[in-house]
Amino acid sequence: MQIKVKNESILDLESDVIIVNLFEGVKIPGGVTGIVDKAFNNIITDYVINKENFEGKYGEIYQLPIPEKNKKILIAGLGKQKDFNKVKIRNLTAKIVKLLKNSDNAKKVVSILHGAGIAGLCPKGCAQMITEGAISGGYEFNKYKSDKKENKIEEFIIAETDEEKFNKAQEGVEMGIVTATAVNEARNLINESAQYLYPETLAQYAVENSGVKTTVYNKEQIKEKGMNAFLAVSQGSIHEPRLIHMEYKNGNPKKKIAIIGKGITFDAGGLDLKPPSSMLTMRDDMSGAAAVITTMKAISELKPEVEVHAIVAACENMPSGSAYKPGDVITAKTGRTIEIDNTDAEGRVTLADALAYAEELGVDEIIDIATLTGACMVALGTVASGIMGNNDEMVNAFISAAEKAGERYWQMPMYDEYGESLSSDIADTKNTGGRMGGTSAAGIFLSKFVKNTPWVHLDIAGTAFAEKATPEGIKGATGVGIRALIKYIMTLNCSGNCGCK
Ligand code: BES
Ligand code: MN
Ligand code: ZN
Repeated sequence: MQIKVKNESILDLESDVIIVNLFEGVKIPGGVTGIVDKAFNNIITDYVINKENFEGKYGEIYQLPIPEKNKKILIAGLGKQKDFNKVKIRNLTAKIVKLLKNSDNAKKVVSILHGAGIAGLCPKGCAQMITEGAISGGYEFNKYKSDKKENKIEEFIIAETDEEKFNKAQEGVEMGIVTATAVNEARNLINESAQYLYPETLAQYAVENSGVKTTVYNKEQIKEKGMNAFLAVSQGSIHEPRLIHMEYKNGNPKKKIAIIGKGITFDAGGLDLKPPSSMLTMRDDMSGAAAVITTMKAISELKPEVEVHAIVAACENMPSGSAYKPGDVITAKTGRTIEIDNTDAEGRVTLADALAYAEELGVDEIIDIATLTGACMVALGTVASGIMGNNDEMVNAFISAAEKAGERYWQMPMYDEYGESLSSDIADTKNTGGRMGGTSAAGIFLSKFVKNTPWVHLDIAGTAFAEKATPEGIKGATGVGIRALIKYIMTLNCSGNCGCK
């Protein structure tokens, strides 16, 4: 599916489907919807609104066939104008594309630039959201299906006659393509079965697709680096661990940051084996890794003036005769000793060493992204991801960048008391202290492995994998985190007047 903006009237473009919109309660369409209405003898006003009682509620969709022109008009409800925002544009477009993509009569689709008319939103941002929604809505994971349902839409054209809006929209479409392509690539990686995707193949993927210099370290090299915590988690699997280090640098960067993705390619729980229902989707436990790999790809194309290091400590968490055990004491890279209380709290053990590795690079900031705790899923559901850190300014900067990109993060507390359960009789710390306040305890555990670099931790356990279809797309991997990471990195040395709010 090609996505483009054209500086032409929606009526002059060849199309099978024309997408227009209406705010809730509007009885006489204005703007481009009004122009289309008039061109088709007021059919939207007289028929869709007055006879069919189309109300314009958010997400309401009416498909109106125009047989004599061999096309249809699709009217999309935008809801109440005061509640309208860019994320709604993205979700709405995804919904429309999901509706049209299997049809044989929707090869050429033209759309109004939702939001940039009466709503007065920034045309660049609106075009980016339409693009992201279209690409996201078109996503299928069908590689193992004999009957592949492919997206049959060939062209998705945004029509904008105003020259200035058109120019801005073009930038938005480019940004949207890079971002949403990264999201879909991550979804492919996450949805892939752990049978094929294990540390070695994940590392190979990064080498071939991250778009940046990528170094992969094997088990011996990981040992030389003193990453014993990471190694301990990996030792139950027949697959060897891999440490993946991706590097990007352009111009004279003011900031040097590290992004770390949890890379458990399968989390069986280890000897503290998960029950079947909890294990079922645990191929998604490398969603953080997928996010940082594809973010690097996007960054390599967008070329901001920053230095970014992406790090993945990839391994499997399996039960076996060689697996690490409850009661084991491990000396992490920083020298701190960890008593293993529960082998299923493995992500934080691998991240402990990844954080130490990142800090040794002398970065200004560290962000880690991880499907870390079931407790975060219980607390925030699938609606928002958790965020914590040792620097509130950085936490807030990340939350606000994420919000602009249309992702939600909710700060969880890091009160000292949450860390009390981690105290060990025999080591410096335990890796877990029970179920209560589990997200905060995990955050506190991680904080012990960051000395003095500003650091933010993202817990995407609840948001990485959709158990049912969302407005954005199908069941399965969502690609959460990538849009926020890209936006955060792009604004790192931006003066603040880059256009879109
Ligand atoms: N990968 C899981 C967390 C998870 C749970 C991600 C559900 C996505 C959906 C993590 O490694 C884990 O098993 N955490 C344990 C920690 C516990 C043993 C303290 C958990 O949350 O149950
Ligand atoms: Mn686990
Ligand atoms: Zn895990």
